[in-house]
Parts: sequence; C-alpha cells; structure tokens
Amino acid sequence: MYTRRRFLTSTAIAAAAGIGLAACRDPAQASQAEPTAAAPQLAGPLNTRPIPSTGEKIPVIGMGTSGSFEVGDTAGERDPLREVLKRFFAAGASLIDTAPTYGTAEDVLGALLAEQGLRPKAWIATKLSGVNGREAGLAQFNDTLRRLKTDKVELLQVHNLGDLKTQLALARELKAEGKVRYVGVTHYLERAQDELAAVVQAEKPDFLQINYSVVTRGAEKRVLPQAQDLGVAVLINRAFEDGKLFAQVKDKPLPAWAAEAGIASWAQAFLKFSLSHPAVTVVIPATGKPDRQSDNLGAGTGPDLTEAQRQSLIAALA
Ligand SMILES: NC(=O)c1ccc[n+]([C@@H]2O[C@H](COP(=O)([O-])OP(=O)(O)OC[C@H]3O[C@@H](n4cnc5c(N)ncnc54)[C@H](OP(=O)(O)O)[C@@H]3O)[C@@H](O)[C@H]2O)c1
Repeated sequence: MYTRRRFLTSTAIAAAAGIGLAACRDPAQASQAEPTAAAPQLAGPLNTRPIPSTGEKIPVIGMGTSGSFEVGDTAGERDPLREVLKRFFAAGASLIDTAPTYGTAEDVLGALLAEQGLRPKAWIATKLSGVNGREAGLAQFNDTLRRLKTDKVELLQVHNLGDLKTQLALARELKAEGKVRYVGVTHYLERAQDELAAVVQAEKPDFLQINYSVVTRGAEKRVLPQAQDLGVAVLINRAFEDGKLFAQVKDKPLPAWAAEAGIASWAQAFLKFSLSHPAVTVVIPATGKPDRQSDNLGAGTGPDLTEAQRQSLIAALA
C-alpha cells in the first residue's frame, strides 16, 4: 500500500511548474490561481490530492482554527487573521477546519470570509460537536451556518466520535439535502484510534481526521492503511503536537538533506512528514501569525519525503 506514485507525481508537477509563485493547476481550484501582493513566495504550485469518494482534488495544506481564531473583535486581534487568510488563498489553499465548540472561531471565520467575499474560495470543514440527539445536532448545525454566514459547508464531521450513530446519521441526512458535501469523523488522541478504525470500517465515511506527527505515529498501524484500503480521505491534525515540537528542535539545525527536499524550516519538515504518508490527503496546521502561515504553506510544494528522510526525522526527534 505504501506507494511512491504520489512522490513521482508531485515531483513532476513541481518541475513542470518551474520556480515562482503559481497556484494549483486543478481547474476546480482555478479561481484561487490569482497571485496577490500577499502571496507567499512558494517554490511551485501547491500539490493537490484527490478525495477518494469523488476524485475532487484539494490542496494538501489546509488550516485549523482552534485557538488561532478564538479571538474578539478588535483590529489588533483580527488584522493578523485577515492576513493569515489572505496569504492562504493567495497560495491556492482552500481547506479550513473549524468547530462550533472552538469559542468564537466560527463567528470570526465567517465574518472575515464574508467581509472580503472569500467564501467561494474556502472549503469549509466543521463539526457536530458535544451535542446529544438529532434535534440538538440540527440546531447546532443551523447555528453553525449562521455563524459562518453560509448556507452549506463542504465537510461535516462528528467531533471526537461523540453521539456517533445519531450525529453521523444527521450528517448524512444533511448531505442528502445538499447542505453538506462530505461527511467525516474525527479524533485527536492515539488511544481513540482503535475505536476510530472500527467506525471507519463499519461506516466508510468520506473523511476521517486524526492526529499524526513525527513523534506520534500510532495512526500508521491501523487507521491510515485502512483509510487507504477503503478510499477514505484523511485530514491530519496536531502535526506540530499543538506547537510542542518546536521546543524539541530549538537548537537543532535542519537535516543536511532539507534543501533537496524543499524544506526551509522545521515547520515544513513536520508538515512534510505527515504529508508523506500515502494515505494522507490534507494537513491542517493552525496559526494566527501571517509569517508562520507563509512558512506552513511552503510545505505544500515539491516532493514528498523519501523513507530515508522520514527515518532521519524520526531519529532527530527521538
Ligand atoms: N478532535 C478534533 O477534531 C481536533 C483536535 C485537535 C485539532 N483539530 C484541528 O486541527 C487543527 C490543528 O491542530 P492544533 O491547532 O491542535 O495543533 P498544531 O497545528 O499541531 O499546532 C498549533 C500550534 O503551532 C504553532 N505554530 C503554527 N505554525 C507554526 C510555525 N510555522 N512555526 C512555529 N509555530 C507554529 C501555533 O502557534 P501560533 O498560533 O502562535 O502561531 C499553535 O500554537 C486545529 O486548529 C483544529 O482545527 C481537530
């Protein structure tokens, strides 16, 4: 199952694109192809990967909103997030993960997308979160649409497998009504991965979301190979271990092979590690800082890591 086809494809795309900013070549993403003054200087177009259940292609770097978008309404809090979004779309990225239980994140995201007419460029993943029963789930979803200032979302996920049967049935109902394009399930802890794997096997959702980083690789055992076998798209959360990985490499130089792998920072090394598993579709790092957003987007170009490079990173963080 561990194929390098993706490595060869992305290398060929990067070579064909040459150096300089360009956005993804997938026609579905063509509206995101306009470079702007805020565009990060990427070494090529963002790589895309297909969502197995439809074949729709999606840029490999997405973003999270937990913490980073849980802010108030002052210019000091919102201006950096405006720039974070501007750079994200300028690079051709689209997938933004949020949840109704991330404080003000849905309100802030909805407001910032609406004020600049950015909703059509966004591929929004949100959740049914912390609710019990169909009515409560439906009320939460309708509130989510209001908060995000939209009438549908691309992905609706059952958060942390909570009230799974009822909420997944509701998500599928909303999909049938056209208010949701894909359904999924999420978790963020290794100890939940056996349960997640059983759910994925039984329910075959369009997406699963799970934690996977250079130091937390439990998903490799069962969840990731299974997603690949069943054709389930995979979002990766906590690729930076909620930021803790940076302290571990504070005084460490990048590996000698970093430049040849298109890596200019530890953030890019960590994101490329998660992306170089062939089951992974998109990684969703969270930041409220524009320069870090540009840094993270830089991991979405060029080749995947080789197995030797992956092992070298594992050893560096051991
Ligand atoms: N159960 C679930 O469904 C679940 C659970 C967890 C997470 N998630 C989703 O996954 C997303 C990502 O997970 P996460 O936010 O927990 O953790 P993460 O992406 O692993 O780490 C975020 C932390 O890394 C820092 N950071 C980001 N980019 C950086 C860079 N280039 N250089 C240095 N530091 C950087 C951020 O700080 P600054 O903001 O200060 O830059 C923040 O403290 C969440 O936002 C959420 O959308 C879902």
